[in-house]
Amino acid sequence: MSGCPYFGKKHLLFQNKLPLKEEEDDSQEGVNKASRGGIIYGDYLQLDKVVSAQVLQSELGGNKIHDEHLFIVTHQAYELWFKQILWELDSIRDIFISGHVRDERNMLKVVTRMHRITMIFKLLVSQFAVLETMTALDFFDFRDYLSPASGFQSLQFRLLENKIGVADSQRVPYNRRHYRDNFRGQDSEVLLKSEQEPTLLLLVDQWLERTPGLEDKGFNFWGKLQANIKEWLGLEMENIEKIAELETKEEMMAELNKQKEVFTALFDEKRHDHLFSKGERRLSYKALQGALMIYFYREEPRFQVPFQLLTFLMDTDTLITKWRYNHVCMVHRMIGSKAGTGGSSGYHYLRSTVSDRYKVFVDLFNLANFLVPRLIGNTCQPLQPWD
Ligand code: HEM
Repeated sequence: MSGCPYFGKKHLLFQNKLPLKEEEDDSQEGVNKASRGGIIYGDYLQLDKVVSAQVLQSELGGNKIHDEHLFIVTHQAYELWFKQILWELDSIRDIFISGHVRDERNMLKVVTRMHRITMIFKLLVSQFAVLETMTALDFFDFRDYLSPASGFQSLQFRLLENKIGVADSQRVPYNRRHYRDNFRGQDSEVLLKSEQEPTLLLLVDQWLERTPGLEDKGFNFWGKLQANIKEWLGLEMENIEKIAELETKEEMMAELNKQKEVFTALFDEKRHDHLFSKGERRLSYKALQGALMIYFYREEPRFQVPFQLLTFLMDTDTLITKWRYNHVCMVHRMIGSKAGTGGSSGYHYLRSTVSDRYKVFVDLFNLANFLVPRLIGNTCQPLQPWD
């Protein structure tokens, strides 16, 4: 006998599947609008172009390889999403460039679009899994047909890097040459233009420099922070002095001295400028102050949206790094350490790009070095409340 409670009671389960009279069937209500003319789905999306753009080189060569279709569709899907990211990115940059960001309603637009970019990147990071259902041998079967084509020649990927703010000086050379040498004619010009336009990094930098509260003669956040850190270090020192056990005391003192060095460096503008000139810091000294202020006062209504923006900028950096990482892992599995179809050392070249050199908002990550406890003891607050 079956243990299923519905056994023998099929009529109960499928009750609403009983045939209805035509006039009682709500699901069939509506008007067939397409028959009246106007644009239809396929035309609106120009699907004739999109779904006929999968030309298998293996098939043209008289040896159709099944997985080449997946390979092409995957790359095309990536390129479409790159296009959408560029669309959002350009609109965000336009809002900053036109100065409309001073209107807080536009700031919300910036943050919403930046969030959308991070969602797309999340999808792109996981999308490699579909292509990984292809085995290395399957790929080997058609790889020669696509040579010398390579993702390295993706114009949109380079535009994306440039517009966010990947520094030319930080790029890993490609066979000891500049990445742009692989592009010709109009593509090369478009890339050069994207290097010269204000990047998202530069625009965010300029916006951070205007953070309210940084004025020396006003709220003077920097002065307050400096005084506060000094006080906190002093209190920490007093607490350590009281420790009886020598080894613990020495360890804690060494740790505190390290912290002191970090803070001394934070308030050394010349040192910052030196690191900036080497590309190790990407935000100006003033912008760094603005970012730190937003970190400390993120709960204040006027800093909530800016704080979200800083979070999404870091998310974007993290997700692009994850994209690079997932891509290189897949490449390793597909071609081992053989040279790429584009001519690079392949896996080794790609591995060197999974690095902080490509992180545009690296300074935002490093802000965590400079955080001090919100409350010192029971009475003293690290920073005076914003009013
Ligand atoms: C079987 C799958 C794949 C293999 C074996 C592969 C292999 C490679 C290799 C070896 C390179 C280094 C350049 C070269 O010498 O060719 C490269 C670069 C690149 N590939 Fe792929 N790739 C694959 C899939 C993809 C997909 C799906 C995309 C999505 C658009 C993509 C985008 C890129 C990009 C943007 C670069 C340049 C990265 C940089 O220079 O930082 N690749 N790929």
